[in-house]
Amino acid sequence: MDKKIKRLGILTSGGDAPGMNAAIRAVARSCIYMGVECIGIRRGYSGLINGDVIPLDDKSVNGLITRGGTILYTARCPEFVTDDGIQRAVKTVKYLGLDGIIAIGGDGTIRGARDLSRWGVPVISIPGSIDNDVACTEYSIGFDTACNTAIEAIDRLRDTMQSHERCSVVEVMGRRAGHIALYVGIAVGATAVLVPEHELDLDRDVIEMIRRARLSGRTHFMIIVAEGVGSAVDVASYIREHTGMDPRVTVLGHVQRGGSPTVRDRVTASRMGHHAVKSFLEGRKNRAVVTKSGEITDIDIEEALNMEKGLQSSMVECLNTLTGV
Ligand code: F6P
Repeated sequence: MDKKIKRLGILTSGGDAPGMNAAIRAVARSCIYMGVECIGIRRGYSGLINGDVIPLDDKSVNGLITRGGTILYTARCPEFVTDDGIQRAVKTVKYLGLDGIIAIGGDGTIRGARDLSRWGVPVISIPGSIDNDVACTEYSIGFDTACNTAIEAIDRLRDTMQSHERCSVVEVMGRRAGHIALYVGIAVGATAVLVPEHELDLDRDVIEMIRRARLSGRTHFMIIVAEGVGSAVDVASYIREHTGMDPRVTVLGHVQRGGSPTVRDRVTASRMGHHAVKSFLEGRKNRAVVTKSGEITDIDIEEALNMEKGLQSSMVECLNTLTGV
């Protein structure tokens, strides 16, 4: 145990994700268990610049595991990318006597943590993003809940699409990545799935898929579009022009970011929060908590930011097989 660790700060930054609260709770509880004071920094890095903090004790994290969002609030902080912003944050860290910062969020949040570490602040990041696009980890907190929220909505849509023999075009989130679209597409039995990782050809990827589905006797069609591909409205217009159908568009939007976390997100968040505190106490710093082959571990934060992540090829193959019939 590293006796020098007496007080840790925790923040959430970037887009919120279901399970962030569970991670905050796990960090606070692990700190209490290990005799460390836990300070919540509100509104991400901007809270660190402005000293916007609250103490986190057992009572303040009570009942948190079931709640979506983040009690610490979150923000995207343009000021923090400047040297001046970082230096002000470093001053707050010193003023508060923080021995380290745990930052929960996506790649931007990890980059912010790495920048702090370059100014001598010990950091550990935890991946939290519904997009599951954090390059250094197989899994990011929030992805499972977001996918479950999306499939629940799409299953409902299917009922009415099937009754009216219609075509539905559903836009899901994911920023520049297609992980949500891919998983959701498989889970709802989509007719076609459009992801930004693959070059788009609407005739091949949509019109031909609908034609084949029609030939095999299907009378309703579900097209999943990752937001990184472009607008679902444009895809629907193309379908209207080329098939004579009158597709309906649903943009799921921020609904996917809310809600009570699934068991996978609660457990992963709890394990990652615990792992982060334990790592600090064992003397490790400037690490990124990740999942690798399903296990929770940690890697060097600089290394983490040099990694790249694409869609899982076995998942793509599975989708292509199942939609190709
Ligand atoms: O990164 C999470 C995410 O929800 C993306 O899927 C989406 O592109 C983006 O955040 C939306 O950001 P905002 O909350 O600024 O609308």
